[in-house]
Amino acid sequence: MEANEVTLPTMEANENYQNAVEKISDGGFPLPQPPLSKNAQKKLLKQQKYEAKKAEKKALMKEQKKREAERKRKEWEESLESVTEEERLKLIESRKSLRKERMDKRSEEKEMKKERLTKAKECGQNVVIDLEFPHLMSPTEINSLVQQIMYCYAVNGRCTSPAHLWLIGYDGEMEKQLKRLPGFDKWIIETESKPYIEALQDHKENLVYLTADSDNVLEELDLKKFYIIGGLVDRNRWKGITMKKAEAQGIQTAKLPIGNFMKMSSSQVLTVNQVLEILLKFLETRDWKTSFFQVIPQRKRCLDDIEENVEDTAAEENEEKDNQLTSKKNCVEVPCNS
Ligand SMILES: C[S@@+](CC[C@H](N)C(=O)[O-])C[C@H]1O[C@@H](n2cnc3c(N)ncnc32)[C@H](O)[C@@H]1O
Repeated sequence: MEANEVTLPTMEANENYQNAVEKISDGGFPLPQPPLSKNAQKKLLKQQKYEAKKAEKKALMKEQKKREAERKRKEWEESLESVTEEERLKLIESRKSLRKERMDKRSEEKEMKKERLTKAKECGQNVVIDLEFPHLMSPTEINSLVQQIMYCYAVNGRCTSPAHLWLIGYDGEMEKQLKRLPGFDKWIIETESKPYIEALQDHKENLVYLTADSDNVLEELDLKKFYIIGGLVDRNRWKGITMKKAEAQGIQTAKLPIGNFMKMSSSQVLTVNQVLEILLKFLETRDWKTSFFQVIPQRKRCLDDIEENVEDTAAEENEEKDNQLTSKKNCVEVPCNS
């Protein structure tokens, strides 16, 4: 089926999906997980080591930041001590005005971001993050997903022409964890507790589930469509789950055209934030190659043949997220009517 083809979902298909999920879950939390293979155990160990190293690094950074703030404070006090009263007042005044300038700039940027996101609500590309999988993830994986969503919102907000983000299936554990994010209540997004198949039933023919397991290759982005990204961090343990879900619901599916432009050192399954970032880059450049090369980390690419079906690790996902968090990216404006 082509990504542009329309197949209406049926009640029967929805029930099939529900039955399939019920077979693997009893709706409780946490669910029995498939036993870990030796390879998966090794990856888990790697993940744990990574987490420990990350915590250590975080504590070190915090300490360094504290020391630096203390050094600056002392420096400032010393500079005040060594001058006349008149100069002292001048220094304090100039520091105050510098601070004000910075604050004004920040609130101006905030206002502009608000405007862009509000405009996206009216005419931007709709992108849905499907939050119906918390029962298939461990608490750490849910936490990782929440961080990825936070990153998605930040990257989207920096784009001059952002997408309009929907968090659908926003309920239960996902709602609880997302609400804990500072400022989440002010995010300019759409949240919906119902499943997308109900919440967006008037747009069923325009729902396209993005999944690496689809045979359809996404060639273009269509403003009429709602592109759905599976809100799942699973080290591809639940391989094919989003494909099965979309098939059962009879909605369109498509994979990113990665294979047309680059070879990957492991699977073509990307993280939620990478997929969103690629979509945003494509909206800006209309060029898949540029989008992939700018978003997919170099170490995930390879010059040799593609080795498929290699499980991604959560450690890798986190590492990528960390790397990306340090590199702020800009997007250029895409007119509303394009
Ligand atoms: C970490 S993946 C989840 C993998 C999961 N086992 C599955 O069956 O989808 C997160 C989501 O990103 C999207 N995604 C990842 N790689 C993709 C690709 N190559 N093409 C299209 N969508 C992709 C999918 O929506 C996917 O559900």
